Amino acid sequence: APTAPTVTAIRAGRLVDVVGGKLLTNQIILVSGDKITAVGPNLAIPAGATVVDLSNATVLPGLMDCHTHLSGEPGDNYYEDMFRKSPIDRAVVAPVYAARTLQAGFTMVRDLGSGSLIDVSLRNAINAGTLPGPRMLVATFALSATGGHGDPTTGFAPGLKFGENPDFTGIADGPEEIRKRVRNNVKFGADWIKVLATAGVLSEEGSAGAALYSFEELKAAVDEAHRWGRQVAAHAHGAEGIKLAVRAGVTSIEHGSLLDDEGIQLMKKNGTWLVADLYDDDYILSEYAKKGFPEKIIEKERSVGKLQRENFQKAVRAGVKVAFGTDAAVYPHGGNGKQFFYMVKFGLTPMQAIQSATIRAAELLQWQDRTGSLTAGKLADIVAVPGNPLDDVQALETVQFVMKDGKVYRNEPKR
Ligand code: ARG
Repeated sequence: APTAPTVTAIRAGRLVDVVGGKLLTNQIILVSGDKITAVGPNLAIPAGATVVDLSNATVLPGLMDCHTHLSGEPGDNYYEDMFRKSPIDRAVVAPVYAARTLQAGFTMVRDLGSGSLIDVSLRNAINAGTLPGPRMLVATFALSATGGHGDPTTGFAPGLKFGENPDFTGIADGPEEIRKRVRNNVKFGADWIKVLATAGVLSEEGSAGAALYSFEELKAAVDEAHRWGRQVAAHAHGAEGIKLAVRAGVTSIEHGSLLDDEGIQLMKKNGTWLVADLYDDDYILSEYAKKGFPEKIIEKERSVGKLQRENFQKAVRAGVKVAFGTDAAVYPHGGNGKQFFYMVKFGLTPMQAIQSATIRAAELLQWQDRTGSLTAGKLADIVAVPGNPLDDVQALETVQFVMKDGKVYRNEPKR
């Protein structure tokens, strides 16, 4: 006879109801196989169930980071990283970053760009149960204009070349090349398409905000992505590039640093999501000079960091949809939870900050039927923290319990 799935009963002292926007106390969550089967205050615990006692903790849905790069992390030296690391060097350490992310309570990520399809291999190995890590939606090669944020030799000696496989790049100019790159990415396993609509900070092309793709190019990316059932995330710092991307129909704006009032109105009208990596400015300004990043890059950070936070706050006040995304890889993986503090400092309530990383993130990723809240029928992605994150959102930096797909990956002894 088939064996019945294992049943786990979680006793939650406090439980964050992200759908109702309230904190519940003394709840029981029943998990069977990979799903939540019931949540309530007085549920009978079935005989033979494994009981997890989180009666001193706050239980929440698994956290979701909508902007990571699990296949990289800043090393100690800019040029060493750039010139002495092969894709294989990056691939062998990626599982460590994935494990750290999961241990920090992040059970799902949207990984927005990776070289050499490391993201696809990592996602597949995690899905197969071979490696512990968050569930990943991946973008493969980020589409970039020649000389743009995703062109690895920008700023270096002419003629320098990285890599040999012509399919292993996201560089594309003009609608036709862009369509081909989208098709190439989908062919190799992309769940999302990432376009670099403007220049960036951590790369050597000019001002961070410059729009590098035309409307026609962005529209081609969006149309082609939709044709294949994929959505587009646009890296965009500058006001013009943001608006071009929003008009072209991208689903989310990443960074959004120099977002202006017209951009805010357009995002509201089109229902475009803002995913702003609000923690990174602090990390870059304190650590990147030591790592040998050129002064022009640090200077670019100074030109966007503070404005990004102010414009985020304006967007929040105006009612733009916000989802949590940190650009993990800019800072060491596993520190994702540090961004909650900044989300609250710059305009969200603690509940909204938690929602941005759970139910709202699930909406952006179009996984809201399967995850994002502690609701019967959804996947059992469940985390717990000591203390109460609604009083102090930094409680989310210390995760004591992690379950993904009904399987426990972390459970620290009761404190
Ligand atoms: N990957 C992004 C870029 O290079 C990081 C931006 C970090 N800075 C910030 N203020 N969010 O453009």
